[in-house]
Amino acid sequence: MKTIIEPFRVKVIEPIIMTTRAEREGYLRDAAYNLFLLKAEQVIIDLLTDSGTAAMSAEQWSALIRGDESYAGSASFYRFEETVRDIFGFKQVIPTHQGRAAERILFSTTCRRGSVVPNNTHFDTTRANIEYVGAEAVDLPVPEFYTPAVYHPFKGNMDTQALLDLIERVGADRIPLVMLTITNNSGGGQPVSMENIHGVKAICERYGLPLYLDACRFAENAYFIKLRERGYAGMSVKEIAREMFSYADGCTMSAKKDGLANIGGFLCTNDDRLAQQEKDLLILTEGFPTYGGLAGRDLEAIAVGLKEILHEDYLQYRFASIRYLGEHIARAGVPIVQPPGGHAIYIDAQAMLPHIPQLQFPGQALAIELYREAGIRSCEIGTVMHAGKNPDTGAEMPAAMELVRLAIPHRVYTQSHVDYVIEAILDVYQRRESIQGFRISSQPEFLRHFSARFEPVSGPEATEKIKPENQMQFA
Ligand SMILES: Cc1ncc(COP(=O)(O)O)c(C=O)c1O
Repeated sequence: MKTIIEPFRVKVIEPIIMTTRAEREGYLRDAAYNLFLLKAEQVIIDLLTDSGTAAMSAEQWSALIRGDESYAGSASFYRFEETVRDIFGFKQVIPTHQGRAAERILFSTTCRRGSVVPNNTHFDTTRANIEYVGAEAVDLPVPEFYTPAVYHPFKGNMDTQALLDLIERVGADRIPLVMLTITNNSGGGQPVSMENIHGVKAICERYGLPLYLDACRFAENAYFIKLRERGYAGMSVKEIAREMFSYADGCTMSAKKDGLANIGGFLCTNDDRLAQQEKDLLILTEGFPTYGGLAGRDLEAIAVGLKEILHEDYLQYRFASIRYLGEHIARAGVPIVQPPGGHAIYIDAQAMLPHIPQLQFPGQALAIELYREAGIRSCEIGTVMHAGKNPDTGAEMPAAMELVRLAIPHRVYTQSHVDYVIEAILDVYQRRESIQGFRISSQPEFLRHFSARFEPVSGPEATEKIKPENQMQFA
């Protein structure tokens, strides 16, 4: 059969509340044009994130009943630990309430003021946790990463020459660890090849640096390797995942992605001494090392989810449905990050709305318009999320790309939902010249995209160009 179907049946349903454009206009104003501030019931199709939004399977719901809620030594922990060890292969497995808690503990124990942490591209919470301890987060993606329309089978790769240059420039003693984010979420959900992981590991070994994987979407990355990298077609996704992790000294993981769980994460390492320091910190803020901020039932759901994500029928269907969305809108002219990623389609808002200056947030403007048009919630990954600062003037500088991410929750939406999304994007695309930019009226110090308030920009200001000295430079 050529038709790839959802390899699951629906057992429990959740109604969607349909809204009118006039109602959505009001909701937008009440939320200060920040889609994170909408109520979920005001959203028709929620593509804000694939994180924690998965529909759990019957096996996962059954496992919840098995959850052992003992404070110490819970049987659920040992089942969780066994599954994580089996797939990831690390000695020490430390549960945390989600990925960012694993990041905070890792960077608090390994970094100090002046440390430098390279990554292909840091996710926003990873960057924020590094900067919070006074260290510097450096992105070293391959050059193709910055050109959305360019096809590269492993656009998430790290630029290994840039890593060598960085180590030579700042000195290995300032680098506590090197990270690779698989897949590379901030730039299109693009995979990292096994060759690149291996190459980065070789450099790390030469300088005595540990390599960590940000493993949130490890199964999607492994499936891309199976499909695209020579020599892996005959291996199972689990075998590929094990090889990826065999090159690493540890990982951070948000089980809300490829753990198919609604909450949870973990931190792994092969270093027993470091693990002890991490567990000491864990007790301070997350909990005892056999639950780490999670209920026993959450650990059970993760243990089952980690096995289910390795089912290749499921990964084949997931990639096909995401490609279907990407190909349909791209064929009609909508600029997207090519090729489609593993968990999301990313629209290139800068190419679609060239009349909106970057400091008026074309990605935010497009995300707002998709909500206004059809109640679709997406996520800006551009200057709202990743603005820089001019070191001399302190002025805000635009991000490298202005993307809008349409992340597909696991096992939640069907083909007709995707068709609805395609129709809405194409309608908005037809009248793209009428869309206007936004300005920020208030914002917090960190991670502003979650709570900043926006207002529409109109009049002469709407076409104001960015001053050259505020343009971000990318090496
Ligand atoms: C690549 C990556 N790393 C880390 C995180 C943080 O995980 P969490 O949301 O569980 O804290 C995310 C979440 O979206 C992510 O995509």
